[in-house]
Amino acid sequence: MQKKIVVGNLKMNPVSVVEFERYLDALEKELKGKEFEKTEIVVCPPVVFLQKLLNRDIKNIKAGVQDVFWEYQGAFTGQISAGMVKSAGATFAIVGHSERRKYFGENEEIINLKLKAILKNGLNAILCIGESAEERKKGQTSQVLKKQLKGCLAEIAPGKLEYISIAYEPIWAVGTDKIPTSDEILEAKIIIKKALAEMYFVKSAEKMRLLYGGSVKSNCAEQVCLDPAMDGVLVGRESLMPYEFVKIAILIDEN
Ligand code: PGA
Repeated sequence: MQKKIVVGNLKMNPVSVVEFERYLDALEKELKGKEFEKTEIVVCPPVVFLQKLLNRDIKNIKAGVQDVFWEYQGAFTGQISAGMVKSAGATFAIVGHSERRKYFGENEEIINLKLKAILKNGLNAILCIGESAEERKKGQTSQVLKKQLKGCLAEIAPGKLEYISIAYEPIWAVGTDKIPTSDEILEAKIIIKKALAEMYFVKSAEKMRLLYGGSVKSNCAEQVCLDPAMDGVLVGRESLMPYEFVKIAILIDEN
């Protein structure tokens, strides 16, 4: 049985080293004396702060990044490889986030290359998928999720699936405070499970954890994670508030 997972995506926050140190102080304080038996907690800061996070070695906290490049090394100005992330000591990488799709033109082909690099270098992947408001309105949710899964997971061997968590992040819920109902999440979960079962043997597909992401707060953790029986959550804004972030992790660990 895989553990549940709570991932904090800090995005491009906080704005300075000093503020990040303060964030880590607060996070450490909130976690003091708390045990998490069933849940992994992962923090994905901006990559310039990664080493600061790793150096603290905070109990119960694992480190991840928000993106990687697919090549191993070379003349790719500004990029960071999965191998570098692994060698620095991080263990997780988010891939395919809707903001990367929107602002940096990432498509399934690119995400697939990145995912392959993440797995090849022994990192765990958090693969984000999700439909836009318009696609949902047009009744295309199932079609969109299936297409994203097929494209992103192309040529990924069944043996690697246990290192992938899929985060269902409806684009209309990311950063908006709009939250899907438990039933809507459950519906997406069934679509995803069915699509995976068509691509892999059910036994291998079941090794993937399925998370929800998009405006997760402690007061809706039940609705978005516990009720639809998801394996965890991907948290954006609320992960910048250690008290709330830890509260979410506690809620999920205790249920
Ligand atoms: P949010 O972000 O929690 O601020 O909506 C979630 C995400 O982008 O992963």
